[in-house]
Parts: sequence; C-alpha cells; structure tokens
Amino acid sequence: MKDTERNDIKRVTDEYLMPAVYGQQDLVLDHGEGVRLWDVDGNEFLDAVAGIAVVNTGHSHPRVVDAVQEQVENYVQSSYYFYHEPMADLLQTLAERSPGDLKNTFFGNSGTEAVEGAIKLAKKATGSSEFISLRGSFHGRTPGSMALTGQNKYTHTFHPHVPGAYKIPSPNYYRYGDRFEDENEFGKWAAEQVREVVKYDSNDDVAAVVVEPIQGEGGIVVPPENYLPHLKEICEEEDMLLVADEVQTGMGRTGELFAVDHWDVEPDIMTMAKGIASGVPFGLFMGTEEVSETMAPADHYTTYGGNPLACAAANATFEVIEEEGLVENAATVGDEAFDRLEAMEADYDIVGDVRGKGLHIGVEIVTDSDSHEPSEDIAKDVRTQTHERGLLVSRCGTHGNVIRLTPPLTVSSDEMEEMLDRLEAAVSTVAKDN
Ligand SMILES: Cc1ncc(COP(=O)(O)O)c(C=O)c1O
Repeated sequence: MKDTERNDIKRVTDEYLMPAVYGQQDLVLDHGEGVRLWDVDGNEFLDAVAGIAVVNTGHSHPRVVDAVQEQVENYVQSSYYFYHEPMADLLQTLAERSPGDLKNTFFGNSGTEAVEGAIKLAKKATGSSEFISLRGSFHGRTPGSMALTGQNKYTHTFHPHVPGAYKIPSPNYYRYGDRFEDENEFGKWAAEQVREVVKYDSNDDVAAVVVEPIQGEGGIVVPPENYLPHLKEICEEEDMLLVADEVQTGMGRTGELFAVDHWDVEPDIMTMAKGIASGVPFGLFMGTEEVSETMAPADHYTTYGGNPLACAAANATFEVIEEEGLVENAATVGDEAFDRLEAMEADYDIVGDVRGKGLHIGVEIVTDSDSHEPSEDIAKDVRTQTHERGLLVSRCGTHGNVIRLTPPLTVSSDEMEEMLDRLEAAVSTVAKDN
C-alpha cells in the first residue's frame, strides 16, 4: 500500500475515533492466518496478542470462516423471539462442558455485558445487593462491572461508582506475599479477607464474591493453590454465591477448558466472552439451575441475544478446540514456554517474575529483581523492541509493566520457540540499557 493511503487510514482513525480508546500501535492490518498477521506493507508478525486473548483458534480458522459464511447466507439475526438450531446446539454444549452444575445460559455481546448480567442474576438469586471483588481485577467499563473492577486507573474519573462493591486484596504472591511463610499461608489469608469485609465493611447483604480465577488485566496473577478452593468454602459458609469471571481465561486459554477446572472449583455463576466465538463479538453468563430459576421472564433481555452468527461461530470454535486438541496443546506448549521463561527470569535482572498457566502468560518487568520495583517504561521499551522483531505482545498489570503473551492456542512448539527467541532478543537489548 502507498504511504499516503496507509497514513490516511491512521489520520482518519485518529481524527474520528472517540479519544477514550488507547494503546494503538503503529500497524495497519491487512490480513491474518493462524498465529500470523500481516500489515498493509507486507510485514509479517507472529501474534501473541490474538485480539487480546480472543482468537484462540487462530486468525480466520477455515472451519470458523465456513460456519460464519454459511450462517450469513441463511439468516444473521433472530433475537430471542425465535428458536434456532445454532443457539440450541450451543446451549447444550455449554451445559455439558462447563464446570459443576452450571446449566442455564444468557447470551449477550461482550465480556462487560456478561458481567453486568451476572450481577443481576446474583442479586435476583440472593435478594442481596452487595458484592466483593478483588483489587487488581478487571471486569469491564460499564457502571456495574466498573464498580467491581479493582484498578482505579480504569475507573477513577467516573466516581461515584455503584455502591456496595467492596474490594479484598489480590492474591498476588510476588507483590504482596513477603510477610507470609509460604504461598498457601498467603492464599488462606487473602481468601479470609472476605470475612473481614463482611465483618467491618458490608451491610451484611453480600450477594456474591466475583473473581477472575487468574487475574488477566491485573498482570496474569495465578493465585496460590489453596486460594480458590478456600474462597469457595467461605462463600458456602457465609451464604454468598461465587461468580467466576472466565472472560479472559475460558475456552482453553490456560490449559483447561475453564481456569476454575485447575482447582476443581464449581462456581454458581460464570461469565465468558473473548475466546468463545473466535472473534465474533459474543459474551454470556451461566448459572446453576438453582440460581437461574430465580430469574423471571423479562428480568433480562437484549436485541442481539443468542445471535445466530455468533452462536454458529461459537459452535465451530468448540469443534475446532476439541477436534484439534487445543486445550491439551495450550497446556503442552505453555509448559515448554515456561522452561524457557524461567531461564529468562534467572538471566535478566529486569525480568522479575514469570507467571501463568497454559498460554496465558505474563512476564513482569522490574527495574531489578531484588527490589521488585515495577517499571512501565522498561516494559514499554520491551514491547517496542518485540514489535520491531516481528512479535506482537500486549502489556497489562496494575503498573502496566507485565508483558502478556496470549497467542492462539493453535501455536506449535516451533512457533512458540520463535516467539520466545524474539522476546528474549528484545529483553536482552533493553536489559543492556537498564
Ligand atoms: C476478566 C474480564 N472480564 C471482563 C472483561 C470485559 O470484556 P469486554 O472487553 O469484552 O467487554 C475483560 C476484558 O478484558 C476481562 O478480561
């Protein structure tokens, strides 16, 4: 593409897009295939962003493309007014594959909407109106989901928030675990903070604890082994629901179909979006029968709910994930990657910690490994350097200093090795200057 045309695309976008968005990279997309993206100048990139952990089946997987094409030619929209096969198939699959007794599903259009719906369901099921969520969490940017989000960089200009949303500490052992004997002692303490909130902060009216099984935007925070099981126990004892926000971690990303499966924890309500439909906008929340049957007709609705196109894409996504063994691949390639990442942590002082499960990977960048002091600036340099080497990564973390790798789950061992070569070359270059 001519320079003028490429620059026009950027100029028009910058001029007319709502300035609320951020983080645009200097790259104009042309097309994608599998784990690769090409820009309009013909440059090829390995993609460890995957639309922010969305295209788990890889860019434009032929099975998903075929399913979407077929559905477009049939009918695109129905609303909940009419029954249709793509939705019935997906409802059945979700009920069969989801953890524990989750059974009933409501379909919306995004992760944020899924969280908003989960809030309504928890309120309806319990008759209570307060919520406990975690510092460092991210649940969305609309009033309810924003009130649950525990990072004021996303929320501070929009006070006052929906009342009755309390925060407990993040189970981030690397940042906050110093004064504890070991991870499990810290995990127990972090979960027990629920009871502290009930005792000191709440109006004794908590409907649910809302948790990302592994915090994503907060910096890929894997909790101590005992954390989620203990949280579930506390919820049962205190008569609260457990809501698992699997928007980022679901659909095989972490090497299990859902992240709660790592700990055999059964949520009462679960949210999903991102990877569910390989990039077709979609989001949903599920509840157990006991919880869901408290909803009455018209308690919740949306025009695009159960959209046939999105359901067809989601059905094809499940088929690809299962037939190509993508959950197992995420676990295997993820394990291989961690061997290499742990070596990087040992070799480079600016790599403070490497965390994650499966292909949900965070590399925490610090000024030096002794102080653990987070450095957003160094992380930005690492990202720029990876980009220059043809690897796309994103940044996350409460301090913006975690390099996140979330490639499509179709990534092969060799492709992952190539990604890590490029990441290491970037880290090594930046480390020399710091
Ligand atoms: C755990 C979690 N919940 C909710 C959301 C919001 O999803 P969406 O951006 O699709 O609205 C996100 C997005 O990153 C997320 O990671």
